[in-house]
Amino acid sequence: MGTVFDGLLRPAIGAASRSERLEHASQQWSVTERVVRRFVAGESLPDVISTVVDQLTDGVAVTVDFLGEDTVDEARAHATVRAYLDLLDAMPASPENADGSLEVSLKLTALGASLPEHGDKIAEENARTIVEAAHRRGILVTLDAEDHTTVDRRLATVRSLRDDFPDTGTVLQAYLRRTEDDCAEFAASGARIRLCKGAYAEPAAVAFPERRQVDDSYLRCLRILMRGNGYPMVASHDPTMIQAAAILADEFGRTPDSWEHQMLYGIRVDEQRRLAVSGARVRVYIPYGEQWYGYLVRRLAERPANLGFFLRALVSG
Ligand code: FDA
Repeated sequence: MGTVFDGLLRPAIGAASRSERLEHASQQWSVTERVVRRFVAGESLPDVISTVVDQLTDGVAVTVDFLGEDTVDEARAHATVRAYLDLLDAMPASPENADGSLEVSLKLTALGASLPEHGDKIAEENARTIVEAAHRRGILVTLDAEDHTTVDRRLATVRSLRDDFPDTGTVLQAYLRRTEDDCAEFAASGARIRLCKGAYAEPAAVAFPERRQVDDSYLRCLRILMRGNGYPMVASHDPTMIQAAAILADEFGRTPDSWEHQMLYGIRVDEQRRLAVSGARVRVYIPYGEQWYGYLVRRLAERPANLGFFLRALVSG
């Protein structure tokens, strides 16, 4: 199933994620709501704040993503900055005793990186506005990883932001062939790095095509991060990666507060709780907002069973 899924369905779903007609249709289906709700905390700020409070009460840290990507309209990029500033204001932060449990995640293409003129500069300025405001509130910021064509520009932005705000984090994707080298650079400079497998349909020239290769790469990258000076954020639901993280942390003498597990909202929730109760640091990635389509499609593409869930909801809806 894995091969058929990777070979046929994943590219088809990738195409669906770029289809405006399907996006429009799915936003009309009330039944979609049930599926969306499994992975997205809601569309409004109060929705997400109530989810944040629930997670913190359960001893789980959060990173909140205001959904949106591939913005080609500067006004929309500025509206995204506004939404993040409102989110930062609404988060239950107290700068005096900031303990790192609050974080927001940003996508540079939501902040203008894909604008036809000066996109990178506009996105960096927008990201800087958010990072400065977050810093004042004692809230962390991590820049999400998008498709491979955006990696060099994102890492350049991260280096520049880290000159002033060293705890700005970013994501490295184990499926990219380049990522071991990127891990070595950022681990040496003491960065907060979220390591994930990678969620975009990528060509074999830049990404490992087989799951096995991606898993092996993940383990090599994880070793580099755990051995380094930075703060590894182990973003995976895969039991093998979760177990390997604990073993490597032990091997390199890391204390429980020097790295963390991360998982997505709605996925393996029991495991999130189990790890938190065991004394590990756990953070859940909570997306919210109206622009949930691209995010939802990536979650469906990751796992064939999710498609069944989606289709059953359509039939019974
Ligand atoms: P894998 O896909 O092998 O899944 C292992 C197990 O986890 C599955 O068997 C299943 O039990 C469960 N599972 C995984 N995905 C599921 C799903 N969608 N629905 C239900 N169960 C599921 N990617 C990216 O390209 N850029 C980014 O910035 C980020 N950011 C990010 C943050 C955080 C906190 C996480 C956890 C993940 C990301 N990702 C990401 C997504 C990541 O690249 C990857 O696509 C998913 O995490 C799935 O990979 P796993 O490591 O979980 O393993």
